[in-house]
Amino acid sequence: MADADSAAGKNYRSEIPAPNEAYFLKGSNNLDWGLKNRLANIFNPDSGRTVMLAFDHGYFMGPTSGLERVDLDIVPLARYADTLMLTRGMLRSSIPPSYTGGIVLRASGGPSILKELSDEEIALGVEDAIRLNAAAMAVQVFIGGEHETKSVHNLTRLVDQANRYGIATLAVTAVGRDMARDAKYMRLATRICAELGATYVKTYYVEDDFDTVAAGCPVPIVIAGGKKIPERDALGLAARAVAEGAAGVDMGRNIFQAGHPSAMIQAVRKVVHGGIEPAEAYEFYLRQGADSGAN
Ligand code: 5RP
Repeated sequence: MADADSAAGKNYRSEIPAPNEAYFLKGSNNLDWGLKNRLANIFNPDSGRTVMLAFDHGYFMGPTSGLERVDLDIVPLARYADTLMLTRGMLRSSIPPSYTGGIVLRASGGPSILKELSDEEIALGVEDAIRLNAAAMAVQVFIGGEHETKSVHNLTRLVDQANRYGIATLAVTAVGRDMARDAKYMRLATRICAELGATYVKTYYVEDDFDTVAAGCPVPIVIAGGKKIPERDALGLAARAVAEGAAGVDMGRNIFQAGHPSAMIQAVRKVVHGGIEPAEAYEFYLRQGADSGAN
């Protein structure tokens, strides 16, 4: 009978200490294993960055240009994204369950573009997020908006629910039309979201002092692409954001409304993960777009 207590014939390698590495994402070292594992399905552990493909716009805008047929136009792009950001309705109806990247579910909603946008409620329960194997739940936060306190409470309630099960919470800072989109505002909004428990924060890039926005936020920041701009400029925006401290992009319209969406998301990857210059990425975009024809 084998002697379970004897070291003889066993391979303990006592001289090699067990690894005790810091987790690769800013501000995330003290999170639990499941949450870290989910974050590693959003952020690439090698680069520490992410290319999230955002196409949740329909939750308040309806069939946005470029998203009329998610099955035909977005599904082919999914293989180039680290993570998809979308609604549960679009996930269930249009995304093949064989997709293995991260899923970030839109978890707030209510008003459409016809109404006051800041009046959102939590629109997703954590049980359904778990059922859909979500890595994160995303909630809009309207700092300075008419319903600021309500949207902040949406965030904190979602953090409480999501933390219970090791799901990440993405706070999306929404800037009202009449508000200044400057570093001062972004510092305020991102910091409030992080202080109140968001696992990571999505915001907009600002030309001046974006590095102070990233530095003042103790958890990772990803940037939205915003309205469609020329492809060369969108690649420049992504490059400046990551150079100044963003952990990646959560880009929608500047990918799916690009002349060549598949070439564009691949070019964005090269900037975000490969650190190549935007001019080089734009050359790649043109070559790849010309090769691929319509897409
Ligand atoms: C909607 C969102 C969108 O996901 C976000 O705006 C990203 O898309 P885009 O790059 O098109 O701005 O959070 O509120």
